[in-house]
Amino acid sequence: MNRREFLETSAGAASSLLLVKPATAFTYQANSAVRLGLLGCGSRGSSVAASFAKNTSARVVALADIFADNLAAGHERFNQLNTGLGQTPIDSKLLFHGPRAFEQLAASPDVDLVQISTPPFFHVQHLEAAVAAGKHVYCEKPVGIDVQQAAHALEIARRIKPTQSVDVGFQCRNAPPIAAIATRIQAGVLGKMGAVLGNYNAPASLEKVRAGASAEEYRLRNWLWDRALSGDILVEQNIHIIDLCNWMLGAHPEKAVATGSRAVLTHAGDCWDNYQVDFTYPSGVRLSFASTQFGAYGVFEAGLRFFGSEGMATVPYAGPVRIVGSQSWEWQDAKAAANVEGKFAANGAFADNLEFADRDKERTFIESIVSGPAHNQIASGVETALSCMLGRMAGLQHREVTWAELLAHGETYELGMNVAQLA
Ligand SMILES: NC(=O)c1ccc[n+]([C@@H]2O[C@H](COP(=O)([O-])OP(=O)(O)OC[C@H]3O[C@@H](n4cnc5c(N)ncnc54)[C@H](O)[C@@H]3O)[C@@H](O)[C@H]2O)c1
Repeated sequence: MNRREFLETSAGAASSLLLVKPATAFTYQANSAVRLGLLGCGSRGSSVAASFAKNTSARVVALADIFADNLAAGHERFNQLNTGLGQTPIDSKLLFHGPRAFEQLAASPDVDLVQISTPPFFHVQHLEAAVAAGKHVYCEKPVGIDVQQAAHALEIARRIKPTQSVDVGFQCRNAPPIAAIATRIQAGVLGKMGAVLGNYNAPASLEKVRAGASAEEYRLRNWLWDRALSGDILVEQNIHIIDLCNWMLGAHPEKAVATGSRAVLTHAGDCWDNYQVDFTYPSGVRLSFASTQFGAYGVFEAGLRFFGSEGMATVPYAGPVRIVGSQSWEWQDAKAAANVEGKFAANGAFADNLEFADRDKERTFIESIVSGPAHNQIASGVETALSCMLGRMAGLQHREVTWAELLAHGETYELGMNVAQLA
């Protein structure tokens, strides 16, 4: 795909977000459960798959992981969970291990839905295999860690059949208080939008050690520290806030200037531990975004504040969700309102305002599979991932970067690791 085609595809894909045609209504096997195969049996993968099992008609029937110990731990975990839910344990024939496990899982006729919960570098490769095999897919964010991967994901998006449903793991959009305030902001109750503030201040990610691990295995297990594997904190973690901002403003940023550094962290890896990004959206609306990811003193805060001519909206992970102004409104939840501190959840299963985000995300997705219309969230996921890459590029290059420059740059991160050797 050349640059012009990518730009057109990107623009077309973004506009198609508003023009999603209901897929042909289709009947799933009405009496049978959606059979879920989990790819990546780590922290988030286990949490989301368990949420599917508890909150929807989906059943976790297969597991895959590059590492035998993580697969074994997942096997034990889901056998216990399934037994507790009165469901069957995982058949050992549906356990896939090693660097090709993603292909074996995708090829399995016993799996309807592949949940991709591997480190970000692999998402697009794994998405391609699952989509080609005709599976429904739940793919964690980010959809790609660089511009090349993002372009590839958009190509894959065009191959998704009308009866295939594909979601991206932006569960915050499904949190009831956030969905409620988003509806109001999108309806324009804040008047002319003036400026937005955003932040994501989280603790450091913890080291994962396995005795006897090679340097490459150590690196892969500690992928959160590594820019190529994760995309860096802006693309991997802060992306939830940028996604909410894009969604509520109904646009992606046109340009960004940024700073950031590795100010505190001293462990292996090359991810920055702080970013400060000024994004400019259409009509000159600015998002001033700042993040940190270090420390073990328990502080966590994440959210957005929108300032318009008629009101100000507060959209935090924890604390009151409300609008103050000509159309004042507040989410009525005394518990959430009282708890403004917030608690970090490395597996993404936050309490407070996000308490029901996963549950509702999973339910909505399974409904799209069982009853239609099918989802195809790849373009939206790519748009948000690119927005974060825009901020990252502006920071790393110490200059203003426009959306068009980002796409034209064609940035690629090389893994520099032979994953096939790991098992
Ligand atoms: N939506 C959210 O709120 C949220 C929260 C946390 C993490 N995440 C995302 O979920 C994904 C997984 O994060 P995590 O915290 O569970 O990480 P993790 O390290 O706990 O788990 C990743 C798993 O993938 C396996 N793996 C690594 N490379 C693989 C490969 N090539 N093939 C097969 N398996 C492989 C690892 O062995 C591990 O079991 C990431 O994309 C992350 O960004 C999302």
